[in-house]
Amino acid sequence: MSLKKYILDLRKRREKVQQGGGEKAIEKQTAMGKMTARERILALLDQDSFTEYDLFVEHEARDFGMDKKQLHGDGVIIGTGTIYGAPVCVFAQDFTVAGGSLGLMHARKITKIMDHALKMRVPLIGINDSGGARIQEGVNSLAGYGEIFYRNTIASGVIPQISVILGPCAGGAVYSPALTDFVFTVDKISKMFITGPNVIKTVLGEEISMEDLGGARVHAEITGNAHFFANSEAECFDQIKKLITFIPWNNKQKARAFPPKPPKGKTKIEDIIPSDPKNPYDVRDVIKAIVDDSDFFEIQELFAANIVIGFGRMNGETIGFVANQPLVLAGVLDTDSSDKAARFIRYCDAFNIPIITLEDMPGYLPGIDQEHAGVIRHGAKVLYAYSEATVPKITVILRKAYGGGYIAMNSRHLHADFMFAWPTAEIAVMGPEGAANIIFKKEIEEADDPEKMRQLKVQEYKEKFANPYVAAAKGYIDSVIEPDETRKMLLHALDVSVSKEDHRPEKKHGIPPF
Ligand code: HXC
Repeated sequence: MSLKKYILDLRKRREKVQQGGGEKAIEKQTAMGKMTARERILALLDQDSFTEYDLFVEHEARDFGMDKKQLHGDGVIIGTGTIYGAPVCVFAQDFTVAGGSLGLMHARKITKIMDHALKMRVPLIGINDSGGARIQEGVNSLAGYGEIFYRNTIASGVIPQISVILGPCAGGAVYSPALTDFVFTVDKISKMFITGPNVIKTVLGEEISMEDLGGARVHAEITGNAHFFANSEAECFDQIKKLITFIPWNNKQKARAFPPKPPKGKTKIEDIIPSDPKNPYDVRDVIKAIVDDSDFFEIQELFAANIVIGFGRMNGETIGFVANQPLVLAGVLDTDSSDKAARFIRYCDAFNIPIITLEDMPGYLPGIDQEHAGVIRHGAKVLYAYSEATVPKITVILRKAYGGGYIAMNSRHLHADFMFAWPTAEIAVMGPEGAANIIFKKEIEEADDPEKMRQLKVQEYKEKFANPYVAAAKGYIDSVIEPDETRKMLLHALDVSVSKEDHRPEKKHGIPPF
């Protein structure tokens, strides 16, 4: 055969495999508003940057008629490419090939690219569109998932791991994403469950649609399994690309720095904060008035909205923001918001991203539901995560900092590096109303006009404790600052923290509350 013939033969072979599950299956995929696995990779990566491996891998299963089935690429595409020039490893499951189900060779392709990502210390992006373990391959497919979970865990905190859910994902196809750092979903397309509605109906007699059981909205708003929610696959890929600009390639590097930019517009922070301390405001407006170009990239926007987390840049460098949101539940810490904040703090710490905390909250949420839902162990995660973190940690107390909330939100006592407070800060064991009712109970009850006396005592308490100056007098607060001095003070604090070293006793690992 001439060389030309060899090349033509290779091209033919490639073309055949690249058809995935064939025309009919692709039509079905497209009719559901879904891109094919190959289109997804090309849409996500820089143009012409994708290089594929293991195109010709075939399954070796022989049972249940599998010996007569050819599954192109064994239902998954793997390779390397770049996003805005940053190298990434990627895999995309192909639902048109046996529902993207995971057999032994399919798993081996995924573990190969995972090993590569870990060895090369670059981010891993997994596009999941799979019915989970391939039933016909029995224990081999379970073994395959086990190997993936093991690698997800070993790579955790070393390289960023990103999961994209773009189809009905069941079993292992959702447990692997749950072990990764960020999970992206698309409305009406993403579904996540450990087993689908059919099995639920058979085993439990319960009827529910796929969407109501585990649609994108369910996971973005209720379960917290998803970190991002998009209206289309194209929007989802834009979100992933943006995330990649904020995070480093691995835990030994810093995120790429961008040219510094001032915040947009001329918004004065003083104009954002209402004069009545009982009135709420959107803390995201404060963040936008502080960060470069007013560009704040929020994470888990729809879940536990009483806390806001996300990335912004200060002087061109990536910063993680954690902020109580007075607009929702007065910004309290509860089980979900504690989980959300703690995990993000640990992410930032693992990947060398300084943390800025903006505090305005009345404490942990009390109540039977919260106590029985384990607010003690969930809330403890925030204490653990801030105490454990060794990246630069800076706090600004905007208004309320009461009780456990004051300690938890990166206080000096958990070894914050810099503590700033606005003059509107109220730092105390609890709010003036509650405090006066307890400590002046007798005086109020015995007064001729109890309500007048109560008001007097509330005022007395406010003047004495509900301000930043008692804490400032003890050095717990480094500086009481004007709201519009915030960006300047933060930039300076970050500047003088670049060489921060904070060594901890040697240990295998800690045991954080779960
Ligand atoms: C083999 C599978 C499959 C699987 C889907 N297919 N899931 N083949 N093993 N796990 C095949 C179907 O047979 C079908 O093949 C094609 O993929 C498309 O599937 P449909 O059912 O027609 O699609 P749809 O109606 O959209 O439903 C998708 C689905 C459903 C919700 C994912 O297929 C489903 O419930 N699958 C089983 C899910 C599951 O329980 N998986 C095992 C999880 S256990 P044809 O040839 O007809 O096109 C697991 C172990 C790890 O993963 C545990 C972690 C701790």
